Amino acid sequence: MLQVENVDLYYGASQALYGVNINAEPGQVTCILGRNGVGKTSLLRALSGHQSVQGGSMNWDGCSLNKMSASDRARLGIAYVPQGREIFSQLSVLENLKTGFAALPRSQRFIPDEIFTLFPVLKAMLKRRGGDLSGGQQQQLAIARALVTRPKLLMLDEPTEGIQPSIIKDIQQVIAQLRDRGEMAIVLVEQYLDFAYELADSYVVMDRGNVVLSGTGESMDKEQVRGYMTV
Ligand SMILES: Nc1ncnc2c1ncn2[C@@H]1O[C@H](COP(=O)(O)OP(=O)(O)OP(=O)(O)O)[C@@H](O)[C@H]1O
Ligand SMILES: [Mg+2]
Repeated sequence: MLQVENVDLYYGASQALYGVNINAEPGQVTCILGRNGVGKTSLLRALSGHQSVQGGSMNWDGCSLNKMSASDRARLGIAYVPQGREIFSQLSVLENLKTGFAALPRSQRFIPDEIFTLFPVLKAMLKRRGGDLSGGQQQQLAIARALVTRPKLLMLDEPTEGIQPSIIKDIQQVIAQLRDRGEMAIVLVEQYLDFAYELADSYVVMDRGNVVLSGTGESMDKEQVRGYMTV
């Protein structure tokens, strides 16, 4: 499981995370909620190894991540679907998926069929350029690319941002299916409260770099959380 304790993160002199604590377990969706600029992406970038932290500890299955490179974390099974998707627009869908191979030993460098069961639309578009996909299809491609690495911890940064409702439903089903297999820990950053509420086994709410509220999904008081999410 993922254990994050007392994490501090600075950009120069400006502090973006203050003693953040979160846990995430296999078979569960842990939601990180909060309005713009509270530090959600900073936390995911710290966990994926794209931003260093100045205090606290991040452990995965008892192994310290603090000093590990992003590529070593990817090899451990930690995958990050960035905000804004960041797919390669000049590469084909298939080539985008293959970029996930870098985190895998040679014997596992193939695209599991189940990825096309989860995202049938991608199968029909393997030769299409990433940049020619709709926003929703690009988001599905970004999630599929992360799944190619066979993650044990999947982190998603606002997967519903700017995406049409029908594809949001599909993405919700995929996340629920991945969770229900019981093997993957999922950390979901969201500002779309209803979406997060449907999926959350547990949640934290962040405000100005601090965790200000946390609990189980079942015990979430939506209106209380909404109070932290509206400007
Ligand atoms: N590379 C950076 N350099 C300096 N400051 C940064 C950098 N990235 C983020 N920040 C600042 O850190 C704070 C947290 O930003 P972060 O992107 O983590 O928030 P967020 O919760 O993901 O916001 P959003 O919901 O808009 O994506 C903000 O004040 C932001 O301006
Ligand atoms: Mg963000």
